[in-house]
Amino acid sequence: MPEDVIAVLDFGGQYSHLITRRVRECEVYSELVPFTIGAEELQGRNAKGVVLSGGPASVYDSNAPKCDLGIFEIGVPVLGICYGLQLMVHMLGGRVKATNRHEYGRTQLRIRDKTDLFEGLDTQLVSWMSHGDYAEELPAGFDVIADSDNCPTAAIRDAKRKLYGVQFHPEVSHTEHGKEIVKNFVSLTGCRHNWTPQSIIQSAVSEIRAKVGRENVLCAVSGGVDSTTTAVLAHKAVGDQLVCIFVNHGLLRKNEEKIVLKTLVDDFKLNLHYVDASTRFLNKLNGIRDPEEKRKIIGEEFIRVFDEESAKLGTFPWLAQGTLYPDVIESAGTAGPASRIKSHHNVGAIPNWSRFKLIEPLRFLYKDEVRRIAKELGLPEVIVNGHPFPGPGLAVRIIGEVTEEKLRICRDAGAIVENILVEKDLYNKVWQAFAIVGDDLAVGVHGDHRQLGRMLTVRIVTSSDGMTADWARIPEDVLEEVSSRITGEVHGVSWVAYAITSKPPSTIEPC
Ligand code: XMP
Repeated sequence: MPEDVIAVLDFGGQYSHLITRRVRECEVYSELVPFTIGAEELQGRNAKGVVLSGGPASVYDSNAPKCDLGIFEIGVPVLGICYGLQLMVHMLGGRVKATNRHEYGRTQLRIRDKTDLFEGLDTQLVSWMSHGDYAEELPAGFDVIADSDNCPTAAIRDAKRKLYGVQFHPEVSHTEHGKEIVKNFVSLTGCRHNWTPQSIIQSAVSEIRAKVGRENVLCAVSGGVDSTTTAVLAHKAVGDQLVCIFVNHGLLRKNEEKIVLKTLVDDFKLNLHYVDASTRFLNKLNGIRDPEEKRKIIGEEFIRVFDEESAKLGTFPWLAQGTLYPDVIESAGTAGPASRIKSHHNVGAIPNWSRFKLIEPLRFLYKDEVRRIAKELGLPEVIVNGHPFPGPGLAVRIIGEVTEEKLRICRDAGAIVENILVEKDLYNKVWQAFAIVGDDLAVGVHGDHRQLGRMLTVRIVTSSDGMTADWARIPEDVLEEVSSRITGEVHGVSWVAYAITSKPPSTIEPC
């Protein structure tokens, strides 16, 4: 972990993670921490800068979250954003005005001082506001460095104590030059710019090496970017002390196992144990129609296979997992609870079996950072920028029973959808793209013959995190090509439909 860190105190704002990400884009390490963290602990963690995030509270609420007052005395630059600004003002002796008027959305900002936070920017810029209260009277030592029509204290500063506050959100893309404002704050902290793919790889490798010593490590790989990057990092660190298991449950996409084997075994020389358990999974799924039951069977069977196979390979004190930063934060309880609609299961995430000690080299990383590291490590484009693929595989794209025929159709049609998007340069612009097949049959004409065939649904969605999604507005001629290639090349399909529901009310996967 780099020595310099900018800590973001999380007051529950919807953009808290974005602040951390914007700081990291400046190649400086940033962590989201609970707002209750003490000044001493921040110093112990080498925080060279502190950001107080936005949040839904008002400083006059009876249980308004407050930070340790000592944070303002550490001597490092502090930036309060929205609620963070109001809290700073309130705690340091100023006055916040509670208004009934809310200011949401785009607001013209007038910059009055360009010496630090707004260095190099225009005098007017569009900012993104989302507040009711504002600072009416500033604490001693503060002056106003920007205002707007509805907010006379849109940005404030105590230059001597290096305390800054902005009423708007520089971290969202709607704020013009928001990135530069964050960058200017980062410069004020004097942090070294060492959060780069190369240095992240170096420190992950030496940390794994130091932890593991001469002991053996096990890693389940699925072909997704997280588990593959984890495996390659662990391999760089401990070589053949690492053994990977790749379970083919028979529900993979077209050629997926070939790509994984070529990359990990041929190119990266990993010690990989490949288990073709397709028949076993398909037998278990025989006759099962209920989506949740299918997921449960696959999840349980996966663990059983993994257990049996790893027992054959020796003793492993360590398990390498591709857990990402948002999962760590979520399970630490800093973020709000997310309700689960489906029982998700990740092939890379084996339940926390107590017999293993865990190595999680990605636990401080966001997905886009993992992709950059994967690229730096030399992983192929299909893995680096591959769409997310669910642990239970094509079973969640087959409505009703999973049969060999439906699997073939789902796999072949899905590959056509993906390939066309790659050809048209649309693949990286959408979140996921696939084919769904159920049991509905519709009449088609093949040559001069009437033929009953499957109805197939193509689903292509845009999303930023999979929690909400919209159907992708794919050009008509591309959809037409998808339809004609599927009906022409995938035997047994007579109709192709395009799914046009967003999430909510639908989900992304149909099962
Ligand atoms: P839904 O269908 O719930 O999907 O809207 C949201 C996102 O999650 C993916 N997904 C899964 N990922 N294990 C996973 O690792 C699962 O069991 C699983 N089910 C859905 C889905 O592909 C989408 O990106």
